[in-house]
Amino acid sequence: MGNKIQKVAIVTGASSGIGEATAIHLASLGYRVFGTSRKGGSGKANTQFELLSLDITSDDSVESFIKNVVSQAGRIDVLVNNAGMGVTGGAEESSLEQVHSIFNTNVYGMIRMIKAVLPYMRNQKEGRIVNISSILGKIPAPFMALYSSTKHAVEGYSESLDHEVRQFGIRSILIEPAYTKTQFDQSSSPADSPMDIYGKNRKKLSELTEFAMKNGDPAETVAHTIARALSDVTPKLRYTSGKQAGQLAKMRRFLPESLFDSGFRKNMKLD
Ligand SMILES: NC(=O)c1ccc[n+]([C@@H]2O[C@H](COP(=O)([O-])OP(=O)(O)OC[C@H]3O[C@@H](n4cnc5c(N)ncnc54)[C@H](OP(=O)(O)O)[C@@H]3O)[C@@H](O)[C@H]2O)c1
Repeated sequence: MGNKIQKVAIVTGASSGIGEATAIHLASLGYRVFGTSRKGGSGKANTQFELLSLDITSDDSVESFIKNVVSQAGRIDVLVNNAGMGVTGGAEESSLEQVHSIFNTNVYGMIRMIKAVLPYMRNQKEGRIVNISSILGKIPAPFMALYSSTKHAVEGYSESLDHEVRQFGIRSILIEPAYTKTQFDQSSSPADSPMDIYGKNRKKLSELTEFAMKNGDPAETVAHTIARALSDVTPKLRYTSGKQAGQLAKMRRFLPESLFDSGFRKNMKLD
């Protein structure tokens, strides 16, 4: 890492999947890593990084976690906002409580963490904030509309923030994976107010998602993309991760909207 000070990284949601792979990879690159889980380190022996308790939906939890990291390590160089959840079902099939719950984790949770680390990064005059978005933050996701809308919000927030904090030597960077083989699908909640009228398409789309995730990229692919975003001297605003994410991003960018729309519906087998 080129200097004698050991860099300190926080990775939220490091108990499994992309977060765990990232925490392990960053530790192997020499970072002192504080991973987080709502359950804390209990039941998970990990020698590569510390796994601390954090619920990103709680202001108090975020505040005491950050104080704890700063008192132990004295600095924060990297924040990887990875913790996230999914809701599967038609947009009309979720109560507003469920809408609030997913936004409270995927969007407000990210914002809580960013607001908590920025004073330290501004003081240090450097820092990198890496926000795990998704290719679904760029394209639609029928029967995952809530999830897709949280990731679209992450995109807008992260890129706007980047323009504000660059003057302090801080960068806010987006990572856009496509389907990745983790337990995300199992951790996702079904829509809480299901309606028969959406049953057939909901089932079809959920089978497609399940298949795509089982055959997706390994979590390590995303971990390596994150490491690249941290080591690039001049980082990009956004990094797609994996071949499929790169292809989808190009299609979204270069295809006329009507062509993308019809191809997308055909691919999703929507009537
Ligand atoms: N898998 C994919 O196909 C895919 C694709 C694109 C983007 N992503 C994004 O990648 C990120 C990681 O997902 P994953 O696939 O690795 O899924 P995962 O294995 O289910 O990991 C989710 C992590 O988030 C943590 N978490 C959930 N709610 C939390 C909360 N309120 N406070 C703190 N931590 C919380 C969980 O920790 P605890 O339960 O231990 O608290 C867990 O470690 C998410 O942001 C997801 O949207 C995933």
